[in-house]
Amino acid sequence: MTVLIAYGSKRGGTAGPADMIGGELVALGIPVDVHPAAEVRSVDGYQAVILAGALYNARWHRDARRFAARHRAALQQVPVWLVASGPLDDSADAGTVPPVRQVARIAQDLGALGTVTFGGRLTPDAKGFIASAMAKTKAGDWRNPAQVRAFAATVAEQQTTV
Ligand SMILES: Cc1cc2nc3c(=O)[nH]c(=O)nc-3n(C[C@H](O)[C@H](O)[C@H](O)COP(=O)(O)O)c2cc1C
Repeated sequence: MTVLIAYGSKRGGTAGPADMIGGELVALGIPVDVHPAAEVRSVDGYQAVILAGALYNARWHRDARRFAARHRAALQQVPVWLVASGPLDDSADAGTVPPVRQVARIAQDLGALGTVTFGGRLTPDAKGFIASAMAKTKAGDWRNPAQVRAFAATVAEQQTTV
């Protein structure tokens, strides 16, 4: 049985951890499908779901929120983990950044087994009025492969016990 990893992203950065989690699970013997959340029509047949989304203004990416709402009933029946990617500094490295309110609420509603916030990425050439202004001082890649791998290992472990 396969684990679905779905993600909502505006500038591509969240595809990184989604793919990395997928690679790690495959290496641990768990098959995965990784897709943009907006392209997933059904979660039928998946043994578990990891839903990831970028953070913008303390809100989870719309595609992740819509995915959670659209597939709510099915997601309440399978193990689910929620991932947010955002902080443009090393604050997420310790793995202790609490979920934003929106993610916490959705996690509770779906009965998610866990939430995690990973560091984000903003490229120096980011488009958009606010993003390009932010990029002048905050551009960087704070995605932390070791942290992502550790999260994937936790998921794999829980997968074998749920
Ligand atoms: C306009 C703007 C607002 C942002 N707001 C937040 C925020 O509220 N919290 C946070 O942790 N990161 C915030 N970020 C950082 C993004 O979440 C980070 O760049 C993320 O990796 C973007 O993912 P994406 O490339 O998949 O869209 C913001 C970035 C931009 C450009």
